[in-house]
Amino acid sequence: MALKSKIEELQKRKEEVLQGGGEQANAKQAAMGKLTARERVIALLDEDSFHEYDLFVEHEARDFGMDNKVLHGDGVVIGTGSVYGAPVAVFAQDFTVAGGSLGMMHARKITKIMDYALRMRIPLIGINDSGGARIQEGVNSLAGYGEIFWRNTLSSGIIPQISVILGPCAGGAVYSPALTDFVFVVDKISKMFITGPEVIKSVLGEEISQEELGGARVHAEITGNAHFFAESEIECFEQIKKLITFIPWNNSRKARRFEPKEPKPEYNISNIVPNDAKQPYDVRDVIKALADDSDFFEIQELWAANIVIGFGRLNGETVGFVANQPLVMAGVLDVDSSDKAARFIRYCDAFNIPLCTLVDLPGYLPGIDQEHAGVIRHGAKLLYAYSEASVPKMTVILRKAYGGGYIAMSSRHLRADFVFAWPGAEIAVMGPEGAANIIFRKEITEAANPDEMRRKKVEEYKEKFANPYVAASKGYIDTVIEPKETRKQLLHALEVSSTKIADRPAKKHGIPPF
Ligand code: HXC
Repeated sequence: MALKSKIEELQKRKEEVLQGGGEQANAKQAAMGKLTARERVIALLDEDSFHEYDLFVEHEARDFGMDNKVLHGDGVVIGTGSVYGAPVAVFAQDFTVAGGSLGMMHARKITKIMDYALRMRIPLIGINDSGGARIQEGVNSLAGYGEIFWRNTLSSGIIPQISVILGPCAGGAVYSPALTDFVFVVDKISKMFITGPEVIKSVLGEEISQEELGGARVHAEITGNAHFFAESEIECFEQIKKLITFIPWNNSRKARRFEPKEPKPEYNISNIVPNDAKQPYDVRDVIKALADDSDFFEIQELWAANIVIGFGRLNGETVGFVANQPLVMAGVLDVDSSDKAARFIRYCDAFNIPLCTLVDLPGYLPGIDQEHAGVIRHGAKLLYAYSEASVPKMTVILRKAYGGGYIAMSSRHLRADFVFAWPGAEIAVMGPEGAANIIFRKEITEAANPDEMRRKKVEEYKEKFANPYVAASKGYIDTVIEPKETRKQLLHALEVSSTKIADRPAKKHGIPPF
């Protein structure tokens, strides 16, 4: 065959594969408001950067009528490209081909690109849109999932792993996203659950829709499985691109440095936190008053909103912010907020991202619900994560820091490198009211006017302990600063810690309270 006709053959073969599941299946995908696998990859990556591999892979199944079925690319698209110039490896399940179901060769394509990403130390982005294990391929598809989970775990903490749920992700398939660092969902498109509505109906006799069971909102607001929620696929891709700008390619690098920019003047740090310790405010305004260009990229915004986590930059360098949110439940720590912050701290630590913690909380949430939900175990994750983290750790106590909350929120005792407190900081075992009621109980009950006596004792306690100076006198706080000095102090702290070495005794690994 002449070269020309060989090239024509290649072009013809390519054309066929690029149709995916064909016109009808593509139209069905579009009718569901979904892009096709290749459209998604192209929309996500830099223009003309996508290089696809394994186009001509075919399945090898022979049972249940599979022997004469053609499944283009075996229902998954893999390749490499870039996002704002950062190299990335990608796979995107193609729902138009056998419902994106995962057979043996489909899994091999995914594991091939996962191995590639790990070997090249570049981020992996997986777009999930699949009916799950390919039923006709039996144990081979289960083996495929196992191979994926193993690689997710192996790569964890070495390369960033990002999961995008753009269709069904059901049964055991959910565990690959759950093992990755960030999960993105899109309203009305993402569906994630272990057992679907049909199984629930047959086992429990309950009717429930896919949306109610595991739609995007469920995972963004209730379960915390999703880290980012978008209204459309295109918005979701913008979020992924933004995330990539904040994180390094792998754990041996730093995130890309940007041109430093001062925060926007509308965020005046001296006017955000009210004097009265009971008055709420939005701690995100404090972060925006500190971060370069007031740019704060929040993670898990809709879940456990009593703690705020996300990325910003200080002097051009990515920093992970962790802050109690007095606007929601006074910023208390509970089961979910401890989980949320602990995982983020471990992410930042694994990827060389310094931590900046803003403290204003009344402590851990009391009550039988929390105790029985395991607040001891979950709360311990936060202590573990901060203690273990060896990246530079900077803490600013804005206002209240009571009890266990004071210790847990990156205190000196858990080896924060720099601890600053504002003049209005109150550092004590508990709030003045509770404290006075306990330690002056006798005086209060025996007084001619107990209310008057309580007020007096509360004031006495406040005067003595509810300030930053007792902690500062012991060196637990490095310096008490005015709010307006905070950014300058943080920039200096960051500069001084750029060569930080935190020695730890050698061990295989610790046993965190998972
Ligand atoms: C083989 C599958 C498939 C599967 C879908 N298809 N899921 N083929 N194995 N798991 C095929 C359909 O037969 C159909 O093929 C095409 O994909 C499109 O599917 P539709 O049903 O027409 O699409 P839709 O109506 O949108 O419904 C989507 C769906 C449904 C809700 C995902 O297909 C579904 O319920 N699929 C089965 C889900 C499931 O139970 N999976 C196994 C989970 S167990 P044709 O040829 O007609 O176009 C599991 C265990 C993993 O995953 C354990 C790992 C540890």
